[in-house]
Amino acid sequence: MRTLTFFLLLFAAFQLQADELTLQNVYGREVTSLNGQWSYIIDPFNNGYYDYRLNPNPNGFFKNAKAKNKSDLVEYNFDTADKMFIPSDWNTANEQLFFYEGTVWFQRYFNHTPQPGKKLFLYFGAVNYDARVYLNGELLGRHIGGFTSFHFDITDRVKEGENFIVVMVNNDRIPEGVPTVNADWWNYGGITRDVMLVEEPETFIDDYLVKLEKGRYDRISGYVRLNNPIEGESLELLIPELGIRERLTTDHTGKAPFTVKAKPELWSPETPKTYEVSLIHEGKSLNDRIAFRQIEVKGKEILLNGKPVFLRGISIHEEAPFRQGRASRPEDAKVLLGWAKEMGCNFVRLAHYPHNEYMVREAERMGLMVWSEIPVYWTIHWENSDTYANAEKQLNDMIERDKNRGAVIIWSIANETPHSDARDRFLISLVDYARAKDNSRLISMAMEVGRTTNGVTEINDLMHSYVDIISFNSYLGWYGGKLEDLKTRGWNIPYDKPFFISEFGAGALQGKHGDKDERWTEEYQAELYDLTLKMYDKVDGFAGTSPWILVDFYSPRRQLPGIQDFFNRKGVISSEGIKKKAFFVLKDFYSKKEKEYRNR
Ligand code: GCU
Repeated sequence: MRTLTFFLLLFAAFQLQADELTLQNVYGREVTSLNGQWSYIIDPFNNGYYDYRLNPNPNGFFKNAKAKNKSDLVEYNFDTADKMFIPSDWNTANEQLFFYEGTVWFQRYFNHTPQPGKKLFLYFGAVNYDARVYLNGELLGRHIGGFTSFHFDITDRVKEGENFIVVMVNNDRIPEGVPTVNADWWNYGGITRDVMLVEEPETFIDDYLVKLEKGRYDRISGYVRLNNPIEGESLELLIPELGIRERLTTDHTGKAPFTVKAKPELWSPETPKTYEVSLIHEGKSLNDRIAFRQIEVKGKEILLNGKPVFLRGISIHEEAPFRQGRASRPEDAKVLLGWAKEMGCNFVRLAHYPHNEYMVREAERMGLMVWSEIPVYWTIHWENSDTYANAEKQLNDMIERDKNRGAVIIWSIANETPHSDARDRFLISLVDYARAKDNSRLISMAMEVGRTTNGVTEINDLMHSYVDIISFNSYLGWYGGKLEDLKTRGWNIPYDKPFFISEFGAGALQGKHGDKDERWTEEYQAELYDLTLKMYDKVDGFAGTSPWILVDFYSPRRQLPGIQDFFNRKGVISSEGIKKKAFFVLKDFYSKKEKEYRNR
């Protein structure tokens, strides 16, 4: 009986490990990039997947079939199809596809020489929105969600020599999706982030966590985990600059928890110090750079490393500077975050979905704290259990990928969601899930404002007792109200927590000038910024803001000819990279705030 129990436990543990494999810090591993020219076929009727009776076709495009002789009928051919550079979004890679929503098939070959005792994984940084991935004509699996990474173990399926990958990508907006059918950003479809082969030994370090123990400055704790549940394996944790060389041994799940005494220099926007950390198994080293810091709230203050901090932020969409389309490159991150730093920011709200890993790592290097968010946005289907499972999986994957990034201080679970009991239950479950996974960061969400009575607006959201920071979006003076109202509006935020303005803003066409009360002028936007910042600065508990938004961005909801032309014009920088007057209003305010908090 004991033997059976043992094997059942081993099997369960293995299943657990196999399902939860995370490939933590994929860029620190032995990778072969599969970026580059991929063939693609546009397939608006999913003809490559279904037969004419709408049954799945066993000989779909994923077979990458070729006519064997001159009488063969094959009505597609990846080899003669057009090519597209991957990663990209098809909307900006091919102007005929700018408005296209539907299916596009992608295909490429790669050569491989299997190494004895090695495993091989196929990794995607993100595919928007629904991806079916095939290797050599066989389905590897499917991934739903446009902004989180996924991978497949192809060790037993990859062939010696030439192999081919086919990816069926569909970006149809669906009511039960996350996000749902309505959003104020372009629905960029495609393989939008890096694609890589990852090679590892049979047993390797797949996951780890290295951080300051919550509430302490003299102990580093966490764990290192193998992909297989092997007990008694030796591992090493090295942090040379702290004189740490810790020998670890795995438990029966293949995990080695640790706690070491150390007093690292703390990471902060002013001193973005990171330490080289090496995790070693059987002579193979997985290296990362770790930022050590503490973040907490105390009454109405946010404390970074025990000191009150004002979040001098800006919201950012993952839209490439100058070229538009999905940002996916290190240089995109450097430009976007460089503008934020130039404005005096110490914080960025990466809206409304997890951004690519370059953005988070570059923010950490530059000294920018990060708000990271899942696209539980507007009218999500709160009653649908599949929708909840999708949202929770995206939350899980966001936390798993970035849990070692000290710069990330806030996980956000929603944006501007309408009140209902079902919505509250949905969001409370997400908060509970996030806290259970990671008790070291703050949880928030972008709420909406409540009623205004006698010139005082209240915040009244049941979620106030579940989040650490009361964050809300308010567009007084743009969506409702007049600029004048900003001079007299009062705020009733009846919670003993910091409050954060996750969005305010106004549209302005760069270069359009006029009176302060003329919509779409830079003067109107600048005046709204000036009056809004002064308004909140008078309210007790004002702990920061991330105005909407750093750069103009494409949106299908912005049709005003000559002004919007499918751009949301609330950027403080135009889509050509030209700063508007509001940029300097915000920069000036942040300069004052930086001095005010410097000696707190
Ligand atoms: C909302 C929403 C943003 C949107 C913005 C706007 O607050 O959160 O995604 O782009 O307002 O209307 O410009």
